[in-house]
Amino acid sequence: MTEQLRTDGSLRHLLTLETLTRSHIERLLERAQTFVRPLGQRPPRSRALEGATVANLFTEPSTRTRVSFELAAKRLGATVVQLEVQLSSRAKGESMLDTVYTLQALHVDALVIRDAEVGVPGLVAAHVAPHVSVLSGGEAHVSHPTQGLLDALTVYQRKQRFAGLAVAIVGDIRHSRVARSAFHAFSKLGVTDLRIAAPTALMPERAEFAGCTRHTQLEEALGGADVVMMLRIQRERMNEADLPQGERYFAAWGLTRERLALARGDAIVMHPQPMNRGIEIASDVADGPQSVIRDQVRNGVAVRMAVLAEVLAAGPA
Ligand code: NCD
Repeated sequence: MTEQLRTDGSLRHLLTLETLTRSHIERLLERAQTFVRPLGQRPPRSRALEGATVANLFTEPSTRTRVSFELAAKRLGATVVQLEVQLSSRAKGESMLDTVYTLQALHVDALVIRDAEVGVPGLVAAHVAPHVSVLSGGEAHVSHPTQGLLDALTVYQRKQRFAGLAVAIVGDIRHSRVARSAFHAFSKLGVTDLRIAAPTALMPERAEFAGCTRHTQLEEALGGADVVMMLRIQRERMNEADLPQGERYFAAWGLTRERLALARGDAIVMHPQPMNRGIEIASDVADGPQSVIRDQVRNGVAVRMAVLAEVLAAGPA
């Protein structure tokens, strides 16, 4: 696996949270917090990354991740290019690496990559020039490191701690990169009561999510939880035949107000979005007082600013 750190310990690439230390994650969260402003206030801007160029190379759909990487880069003074993959030569069969070499020749300093295939961000990281950084914007079902960071930041803002929290991650865990990065973030940060809950068909392999308790009943996982993270069914990673039926799924697995009442009274409800109201979550819960779903979106920009600031601070050697 490609080394993510420079010899001085700073982040060069961000492909996974799995190999970052707890203190490195904490440092990124602290820095991200300095970029958070309440809605209605102008977000902070600086010229810290003036002259740097960031390219977004997304071959899977994205709203929040793509837009927030763009805003994060612009708010730090960098230039951003969005590669419309359907309009680029990749649609003519150009390989990912040839596209990347082209962007590199155009003086791109950081590539944000989202791809449905396992290993693509790592492959690119292994081939770029030494001054170029690769940031994963979501790798298949495997990892989504900036999502893990923004989820951790959101929890910390509300709870001011990780130790002693009960965190339930619910839904299509098997196909979820969000769940895997959340698992890495929360377990590194000291959450010891980490629960995953899913119908058997959507449970990950036994070897994964070490240390989490596994629940095939939603109610069981919600009992006394401080944090409830709901996930979308990743249709694009399943065969038609394996797809759970929406209404039936909601009946057993949908987060309703009644079920949320099993969690602690001050529990927060999270969802990475896009959400399917009426399938994994009831609309009134998504918009209700315990929902921090929009905080997650706001924190996404702050986290990506912190990551870009660290990765691009050094400038080309
Ligand atoms: C998620 C993703 O793409 O992994 N969205 C996001 O980045 N916030 C979750 C999903 O697609 O369900």
